[in-house]
Amino acid sequence: MSEKVKITIDGITVEVEPGTTILNAARQIGGDIVPPAMCYYSKLEGSGGKCRTCLVKVSKGSEKDPRPMPKLVASCRTGVMDGMEVQNITSPEVIEARKGIVEFLLINHPLDCPICDQAGECDLQNLGYEHGAADTRYEFDRRTFEKIDIGDKIQLHMTRCILCYRCVFTADQLTNNRVHGILGRGDASEISTYIQQSITNDFSGNVIDVCPVGALTDKTFRFKNRVWFTKPVDAHRDCPTCKGKVALWYKGEEVLRVTGRKDQYGEVEDFICNACRFDHKKTSDWVIEGPRHIDRTSVISSNHYETLQPLPVIQKNKTLMEANKVEFERTKKI
Ligand code: SF4
Ligand code: FES
Repeated sequence: MSEKVKITIDGITVEVEPGTTILNAARQIGGDIVPPAMCYYSKLEGSGGKCRTCLVKVSKGSEKDPRPMPKLVASCRTGVMDGMEVQNITSPEVIEARKGIVEFLLINHPLDCPICDQAGECDLQNLGYEHGAADTRYEFDRRTFEKIDIGDKIQLHMTRCILCYRCVFTADQLTNNRVHGILGRGDASEISTYIQQSITNDFSGNVIDVCPVGALTDKTFRFKNRVWFTKPVDAHRDCPTCKGKVALWYKGEEVLRVTGRKDQYGEVEDFICNACRFDHKKTSDWVIEGPRHIDRTSVISSNHYETLQPLPVIQKNKTLMEANKVEFERTKKI
């Protein structure tokens, strides 16, 4: 095995395999220093390099050539060098640039979160919350599109699309017959199906899971509920097409939707087939494993069946543990 290389991100050093990108090195450290990623998706080959939300500052190029890189770089596309030093949240320049990127992404993106099914699990909503400005400086009309019907299972809202290409890579790499792509160039670019063909391949529903915004949503779940009122549960079934490992989203006893299991970066563990996603919405179709732990910072991580875990600062303090005892015991019983 080749020798590992050392990289320091926001003062934390980690050793990684050569060829690792700065973003993935940061993910090996974890926590707040991980740059946000709107287009990179580790399970999709070739993804990344489109949205610029993952920009970081390379303050030292490497041990051999310590010169800083002249411009901010996309961490999802830049490989690590031995001795490299990178700044993310410790660089005011990066934070300022990220603010600008969010402003750009929101130029054409409608603020229709109150009626958007992605609200509560939208990467752009989270990003806007952390880095967005309260007002827009944009004075021109937003882009509008002719409505395109891409089938009975998937809803396309082109006005919400940020052109991250994830859905195109998903269709390219998971299905044997991609029928959609990005047509046009520059501000005329749009997601479209060739001659309005609907997307019907066995794995096409995964474009819903990879879409970071509400541009591609599940028609079978549309307007049924806000995600934060639903309860995610891990479940599996013996599926001949995919691994059959999913998250079921319950409201009362009804399964409102089925999705892949997403990790803390919003990426699914396994892609699931359309039969699991759209055709098995009864509890009896599944073997229930238990409540799903949501470790993403989002409104959907609250309000679930999980027991309340005391924060480390409370665990270390007897008085605080005692003061919250009743609450912890109550949630254990639930
Ligand atoms: S529809 Fe969604 S996944 Fe596809 S390019 Fe637009 S934002 Fe990305
Ligand atoms: S995540 Fe790196 S450019 Fe989009």
